[in-house]
Amino acid sequence: MKPSVLVAHPLLPEADALLSAAAVVELATEAEICPREILVAKLRDKDGLLSLLVDEIDREVIDAAPRLRVIANCAVGVNNIDVGYARTKGILVTNTPGVLTEATADLAWALILAVARRIPEADRFTREGRFKGWTLGLFLGRDLAGRRLGVVGMGRIGRAVARRARAFGMTVVYADPRPLPAEEARALDARPLPLDELLAAADIVTIHCALTPATRGLLSRERLARMKTDAILINTARGPVVDEAALAEALEEGRLWGAGLDVYADEPRIDARLLSLPNVVLLPHIGSASEGTRSAMALAAVRNLIQGLKGERPENLVEA
Ligand code: DGY
Repeated sequence: MKPSVLVAHPLLPEADALLSAAAVVELATEAEICPREILVAKLRDKDGLLSLLVDEIDREVIDAAPRLRVIANCAVGVNNIDVGYARTKGILVTNTPGVLTEATADLAWALILAVARRIPEADRFTREGRFKGWTLGLFLGRDLAGRRLGVVGMGRIGRAVARRARAFGMTVVYADPRPLPAEEARALDARPLPLDELLAAADIVTIHCALTPATRGLLSRERLARMKTDAILINTARGPVVDEAALAEALEEGRLWGAGLDVYADEPRIDARLLSLPNVVLLPHIGSASEGTRSAMALAAVRNLIQGLKGERPENLVEA
């Protein structure tokens, strides 16, 4: 008999086909957000769950699913799942690392360039018919060449972002509890620094750590105050890593030059001050949103789910 699986949100067709061949599939909702009561009710008789990062899989949800054996998250981050609790219930949790590294690094650089060179502002200005001719002072931005990039979190994505820095003539410093192996640090030309020193030294700070109890609020008000007043902050990791209110205040008061954000403390809600500031570029959490990458993520999540349900060790098992 095929296992019974709940898919919290619509999958891409290729992933849907793969999963439907191996399991009896029920779709929880077509909506962006799957109401908690639906998740709880529909999980009661399911062996597996394919979730997105917007689905909060906490104790209550897990307790409501007595048959559940695998939770396959279609994301690299698993901060939406109580992984420790799932483990105590014998439930495997999987994620989708690797396949989204390059797309997310590209997006971090897209934000760096967009903020540093004021691209969205200049685009709006041009469309509004306000371009009346070339002048020396029109939309002056920040140079990248010769500046220092500070990478917070030197995992796969942090390293991919650091690799691209060379092409822009930037030097790289990074903060991570686990220093890079010497050879890799040499190849990336990246120097480790304690976080507080990195914040004071970097011209662009880009965040690439996972959201964990240790990194929640890591860029606190005090730490943001250490950054240079002409620095730029980029966050494509998770919103709660940054004190969003303190960031908005710093940007409003000119204590930071700009910010590029793909993630927010309480998605999809965005602080009204951030929405109103011209020196902030805001995106709707699209770090991994390229056709190839999203397809690879969905297929990886399905493969993980099928492997776990077959009693095999999934390719991307999350170790709590
Ligand atoms: C993730 O995978 O955790 C990203 O936030 C979405 O790709």
